[in-house]
Amino acid sequence: MEGRLIILGLALILISIATIPVADCAYHSETLPNVMKEKITKLHFFLFDILSGSKPSAVEVARANISKGDTSPTPFGSLFAIDDPLKDGPEATSKVIGNAQGLYVSSSSQPGTLGLVMYVDFGFTTGKFKGSSFTVASRNPVTEGKRELAIVGGRGEFRMARGFAKLNTYFLNTTNGDAIIEYHVTLIHY
Ligand SMILES: *[C@@H]1O[C@H](CO)[C@@H](O)[C@H](O)[C@H]1NC(C)=O
Ligand SMILES: *[C@@H]1O[C@H](CO)[C@@H](O)[C@H](O)[C@H]1NC(C)=O
Repeated sequence: MEGRLIILGLALILISIATIPVADCAYHSETLPNVMKEKITKLHFFLFDILSGSKPSAVEVARANISKGDTSPTPFGSLFAIDDPLKDGPEATSKVIGNAQGLYVSSSSQPGTLGLVMYVDFGFTTGKFKGSSFTVASRNPVTEGKRELAIVGGRGEFRMARGFAKLNTYFLNTTNGDAIIEYHVTLIHY
């Protein structure tokens, strides 16, 4: 009888010891090699960044006190919130395929140059990539003709995306800041 009790006690101790490490590491899975295949997708569209008029797609939300009297549409230190339409062509009548939402800050202090740093999510509202988006966190040296943005992530079909966007200024009004920018995007994603 006593022997059986000791065995039962030992068994209970062993069970409780065996369960402790499981409870201890419940916040993570086993680490396994990644067998998911990467894909590559290229996109081509035009971004309409409109500061003028009664329905702008980019609005200034803050500005450095020092540039109070600056007449440039995007003085150094000004911060803009955007909801820019993305279209499949450069015309006002081109089809809207998505929108770019986020922030950009005018970050070049040198006269005669315009540089932005963009923190923007590019989302699509039509076609295969409807509901998916990719994220840009990058400088954009606007006054340099050919330039490139870094893509650092994505959602939906573009989950874990990385890549780059090559930009071409199709139209820029330096008086009011309105711009139409052509994007050639290369995305690597799952
Ligand atoms: C902004 O500048 C004006 C003068 O142009 C000054 O009176 C004011 O105190 C400044 N505000 C801040 C927050 O520095
Ligand atoms: C540029 O903006 C100014 C000021 O809003 C406007 O008068 C001018 O017509 C615009 N130019 C073009 C080519 O759109």
